Amino acid sequence: MSSNAMLQPEPAPIVACTISRDVQNFDLLIDDMESELGESWGDLSFEDAAAFLDQPEASQLEFVAIAIDDHDEERLADIGALIGIANAKEIDVILIAQEVSPIALHQLLRMGAGDFIPYPLPEGELHNAIDRLRKPKIPAQAEPEVPQEMRSTLKATGDRNGVVLPVHGISGGTGATTVAVNLAWELANIDKKNPPRVCLLDLDLQFGSVSTYLDLPRRDAVYELLSDTNSMDNESFMQALLTFNDKLHVLTAPADILPLDIVTAEDIDKLVETARTNFDYIVIDMPTTLVAWTESILHQAHVYFSTLELDMRSAQNALRMIRALKSEELPYEKLRYILNRAPKFTDLTGKGRVKRLAESLDIVIELQIPDGGKPVVQSGDHGLPLMETAAKNPMRKEIHKLAQSIHEVNQAAETGR
Ligand SMILES: Nc1ncnc2c1ncn2[C@@H]1O[C@H](COP(=O)(O)OP(=O)(O)O)[C@@H](O)[C@H]1O
Ligand SMILES: [Mg+2]
Repeated sequence: MSSNAMLQPEPAPIVACTISRDVQNFDLLIDDMESELGESWGDLSFEDAAAFLDQPEASQLEFVAIAIDDHDEERLADIGALIGIANAKEIDVILIAQEVSPIALHQLLRMGAGDFIPYPLPEGELHNAIDRLRKPKIPAQAEPEVPQEMRSTLKATGDRNGVVLPVHGISGGTGATTVAVNLAWELANIDKKNPPRVCLLDLDLQFGSVSTYLDLPRRDAVYELLSDTNSMDNESFMQALLTFNDKLHVLTAPADILPLDIVTAEDIDKLVETARTNFDYIVIDMPTTLVAWTESILHQAHVYFSTLELDMRSAQNALRMIRALKSEELPYEKLRYILNRAPKFTDLTGKGRVKRLAESLDIVIELQIPDGGKPVVQSGDHGLPLMETAAKNPMRKEIHKLAQSIHEVNQAAETGR
């Protein structure tokens, strides 16, 4: 009841409210609300919030900040109901969450929470969230029904021991996703008589564009799997996949942006392990950021492709990445460098620069992919791999050769056993 006292509309009109079990558990939020709004905000308990939001005055609120921690997960339905009331009154909802499971977070976002900030609040994040809600809105996209032809009907085998091939862009825009998507498609088509089982995991969980490049819907299946890896089995994993043109099986990134560290190394281990037992090749599109689970992927990887370009940005990032891996004693020797937008054969000064880049980083550049021009971008926009739209494109040719050599090496290893 004491909390209601703070809601008296004087002296300053109340434009926002925090809603929590006990706001004292979120003292950084109190500080940030004060610096953003001065005196013009109030604080409500969960119990009082519903009654307050039902009053006509509540419509004057610009937003509510619902702060929850893991203890509040049992009242998810009530919190969802509050979000519903707020939405109905066109009051924005910012979710502040401490140690809340990804599945709970995800449900709350689905129930209509417009924005999410982890707690402890990162510097300036409440300010940014308020800025965002003051901007004109783009309607949220509900998860679309998946068309029948995209549903994976492939049965789990559980008897494979797949080759794990991550692709990690040393800097953004260096073609990691394009390489991952096309490499996966080339592998899926490498042997018409005896096609290997290929799966593509989009683990660039925030900005993953595999779904764009293959024109598949983004799905939340990946978070559903990752938030409860204990109950993940071959069947639930297979059901989470979508199929591209009958041959390639894809785990697309979710529609909402959630923090990358919400997923643990153990979750990723289990995911990749499950993929390995059901597929011959597992191509993984990695986020550019190094995260807690990069290590799990490095350990599971047979080789770890890194895309870079011939510029200072890539050179410096590569150096930083190698140093970071070495200092953590991670298997940096698995890195295979792919130079994208490489200079043409005839460009002698360009070739000299490639040589100097490799020398200064003390790396071997295993593959050079030339600029494939507009057709590459168009093929991505059309949601098709290069093989389908521009089979003679120089970029496609290099990725095709890479797929061939991977398959040959793998087959030799299998028959050699
Ligand atoms: N070799 C290339 N030639 C022409 N365009 C390319 C090439 N590699 C990538 N692109 C284009 O560059 C953009 C960024 O590529 P993308 O694969 O999304 O990068 P990343 O995943 O590393 O951020 C895309 O529009 C893609 O079509
Ligand atoms: Mg990408």
